[in-house]
Amino acid sequence: MGCFSFFFRRGANPPTTRFAEFEDELSEVQNLKLYSYKELKCATDDFSPANKIGEGGFGPVYRGKLRHGKDAAIKVLSADSKQGAKEFLTEIKVICDIEHENLAKLCGCCVEGDHRILVYDYLENNSLAQTLLGNGHSNIRFSWRTRTRICIGIARGLAFLHEEVRPHIVHRDIKASNILLDKDLTPKISDFGLAKLIPANMTHVSTRVAGTIGYLAPEYAIRGQLTRRADVYSFGVLLVEIVSGRSNTNSLLPIEEKFILERTWDLYEKNELIELIDMELNGDFDVEEACKYLKIGLLCTQDIPKLRPLMSTVVKMLSGEMGIDEGKITKPGLISDFMDLKVRSNPNNTANGNQNPKTNIFNTTISSGSDNAEHSLLSSNATSQSTMTFTDRWDHTN
Ligand SMILES: Nc1ncnc2c1ncn2[C@@H]1O[C@H](COP(=O)(O)OP(=O)(O)OP(=O)(O)O)[C@@H](O)[C@H]1O
Ligand SMILES: [Mg+2]
Repeated sequence: MGCFSFFFRRGANPPTTRFAEFEDELSEVQNLKLYSYKELKCATDDFSPANKIGEGGFGPVYRGKLRHGKDAAIKVLSADSKQGAKEFLTEIKVICDIEHENLAKLCGCCVEGDHRILVYDYLENNSLAQTLLGNGHSNIRFSWRTRTRICIGIARGLAFLHEEVRPHIVHRDIKASNILLDKDLTPKISDFGLAKLIPANMTHVSTRVAGTIGYLAPEYAIRGQLTRRADVYSFGVLLVEIVSGRSNTNSLLPIEEKFILERTWDLYEKNELIELIDMELNGDFDVEEACKYLKIGLLCTQDIPKLRPLMSTVVKMLSGEMGIDEGKITKPGLISDFMDLKVRSNPNNTANGNQNPKTNIFNTTISSGSDNAEHSLLSSNATSQSTMTFTDRWDHTN
């Protein structure tokens, strides 16, 4: 097909002049391939819409075939980046050096002119948002065993980012669409470290508050306090979603059932958690274990961040290595307790594949306009179909 590609690894042939300026940057990176724009253009048939597999807040994602026939997911960062190539590569190095069974593998990138593109291993079974919580088009049946495996896998990936990687990485956007599944349904957390790749003056994600409402810990959303416990909160919401098979917010349900965490707390207090377990399981699950998973979800989403367990503890609790202390469960922190959040719902929103009764109007990615914690407040300004921006003034909405 005559598609000329050139990339290099450490120890390969001398770099072309075009890449020479990055030689120092890349010399420390073992596993990173630097792709030319031409090669990625060729791999995706000129970024053909037919090869587009999704679009998130960072930009479109294409399926592509690289040299030697390897499939890849090619994520084109849409920010009109003012971030220097060197700075971009510095951040990439961090992500690229991290390997774990439950983390999506970044295999390379392209930094050419204004182009900033990430190349990931292609994962065959899409995201949890599209398969488990999606529009019913998926053929995948998520048995109880599969679900427990997925929950434990995600928890392990997160425990690795939080407790083993140095410096620790807080993901900031744990949610169903960022959990990809490989051919064996092994979960892979994607987009870790991405928040730092978009420069501070960009609107989507930055070192400012970023995340998705519905998964966002109140202290982070309201005060911009970012710790690992904010990820634990998001994981707790995801855990409840996996057990119940429904999104965290469903505007079609009666008010008392609309928000999954409120519903979970309500059922927990009535000792009726079993009501929440996914009907699709047709009763084929371990009731005690499923209720335990929901309680772990509640432990993870408690209002006081310090009360939420570390992810390594969560792994132990999920796998049965450690019991849970029910007496410790306190009411979940709910953003709705702080404000009457008005989010403009767009029925045409396809960004997360959410076009069905399980649609979550709060599955909207947001970023703040300010690094200042005091300014990390919510506004109802929906800036695009999938992206909502925190403005720096809460009183916009009042
Ligand atoms: N490595 C991959 N393999 C297969 N499909 C992928 C891969 N990475 C992304 N996708 C697909 O592309 C879609 C869009 O991903 P992307 O991360 O850009 O958006 P998102 O997760 O929906 O939102 P956000 O921008 O907030 O992360 C995913 O939902 C998934 O279907
Ligand atoms: Mg994503």
